[in-house]
Amino acid sequence: MNWLDIVSLGTNESSAADETKRGDHLYIQIVRSIKDAIQSGKLPVDSRLPTNRELAGLLNIDRSTVSRAYLELSEAGLIESHVGRGTYVKSLVEVPNAARSGGSNTGAAAGFANSPNANRPMVWAEKFSRASQTVNAIVSRQAPASGLQDDTISFGGGIPTEEFYPSSHFQRIVSEMVGRGDVDRMFAYSPAEGDAELRNQVIQYLGEQSMPVQHDELLIVSGSQQGIDLVSTALVDENDVVIIEDPSYFWAICNFRARHARLIGVPVDEEGMRMDVLESVLKRQKAKLIYVMPAFQNPTGATMSQARRQQLLALAREYQVPILEDNFVGELVYDGERRKPLRAEPGAQDIVIHQGTFSKALCPGLRLGWLVAPQEVMNRLRAAKRSSDLTTNSMAQVVLTRYLEEGLYKDHLEHVRTAYKQRLEALNEALEKYIAPITFGSEGRHKGPQRLTWTIPYGGLFVWAKLPARLSARELLNYAEREGVTFSPGELFFVGADQPEYLRLCFIQTDEDTIREGVKRLSKALSAFFADVSRVRSKESTWSKRGSERVLI
Ligand SMILES: Cc1ncc(COP(=O)(O)O)c(C=O)c1O
Repeated sequence: MNWLDIVSLGTNESSAADETKRGDHLYIQIVRSIKDAIQSGKLPVDSRLPTNRELAGLLNIDRSTVSRAYLELSEAGLIESHVGRGTYVKSLVEVPNAARSGGSNTGAAAGFANSPNANRPMVWAEKFSRASQTVNAIVSRQAPASGLQDDTISFGGGIPTEEFYPSSHFQRIVSEMVGRGDVDRMFAYSPAEGDAELRNQVIQYLGEQSMPVQHDELLIVSGSQQGIDLVSTALVDENDVVIIEDPSYFWAICNFRARHARLIGVPVDEEGMRMDVLESVLKRQKAKLIYVMPAFQNPTGATMSQARRQQLLALAREYQVPILEDNFVGELVYDGERRKPLRAEPGAQDIVIHQGTFSKALCPGLRLGWLVAPQEVMNRLRAAKRSSDLTTNSMAQVVLTRYLEEGLYKDHLEHVRTAYKQRLEALNEALEKYIAPITFGSEGRHKGPQRLTWTIPYGGLFVWAKLPARLSARELLNYAEREGVTFSPGELFFVGADQPEYLRLCFIQTDEDTIREGVKRLSKALSAFFADVSRVRSKESTWSKRGSERVLI
């Protein structure tokens, strides 16, 4: 069957500037063409239709456009999909609209009883915005773990666990404050810029990190994810270039992509974002924003060196591109020197928007973070905040303020730094003991180490590990889940070319014994994975040798 004959797409309205309209137009044409082919007998009952992917590939269009067309044809009773078998023509006759299932006859009440839409169910797939379709497509790559056992040990995620929650302090503070009649501050809307007392506390806290901040430069946000969102709202239009470390934080990538920004990834090495590459990008592209995590980057754990920080600021100034500094784990330093935030560097104040959060060092459920920006930008960010969620949760702000005022956060930071340092050391030791001896194939002269390698950061949440070239961490994950351990496959974090070899291991979520047990399980998974890949490859090479012999003979 020549599907290009059956589904002919006109070329009008195909302006790239209006993809949504183009999608609508194409989907209607697909519906019409297939309907015509069915009703004219070209496609008899039981003929098989191409899969979404096949038809989208043939027509060089988005798969969602084909899905939408198939959905409509199936609602019209003309085609039917069977999971695992495909899509077939079901009937030559369209089911009348009024007889289609679902939906109460609300049309009748409003005087539309005879309208073709009177009983038509809402087809939500047609309604989603482009932003929603983009986010959905990206999120679906985060394939949910399949059949995880209850006792699975997790190196995935990136969040503190229950034993570090400030439960008892918060319980006391809430009851004291309610008892004392502080209820108005707790239960009314807070100002858009945040509770005044919390702002004082955050300003004092940032001051201690050599970052003096004025009141009109600070905004309390509902978590630093909202910080990214507000900065995007204020600065990023469709098609704007946003420069981002590659790999980078998954939900930042999602946010920028949902706005249809053009993301350009700049590789990261052990000193952070590569400045030579950044410079060559800036020479070629007019960028709107540079998004970086200078301390213990997510996912690589890399920290930007002092020299790179200076270069970054100089380049941003030269090419007049603002920087969003995401300092999500700046406090979680376990060894060595603690760097001040990028915005605390001389001359950074008018180019760097800085954000931080209480989610990682304290607890994520508070949903409290902050943004620091030049006053002119802050006016826009405040307006964006209002239009997003009016204000941040008052109760969380008031309780946290008291917690900070009592000096409890400093004690907590000391406590978690000690605990996380021990966990990081346990992970490193276990990797050395159980993983390092496992090799893959023979050590080729130019191939580098044929084993899992990893980099130990001196703070943050993550260890970044790498399989030998061309092996897939996503595949290793299947083996790992069967052994009862899980991690984040690194491919999720890349914006440029797919790099399947990487995996991200979060070390803060379990105690040292559990970490050791998790690594033992990972070592079993890795051995089995290496063995299977070696077996398959040796079979392939036998076949290709035999093939070439045949040719030679
Ligand atoms: C780099 C980075 N930035 C921001 C966030 C968002 O954190 P929150 O909104 O909880 O402050 C996260 C969460 O994982 C993150 O990893």
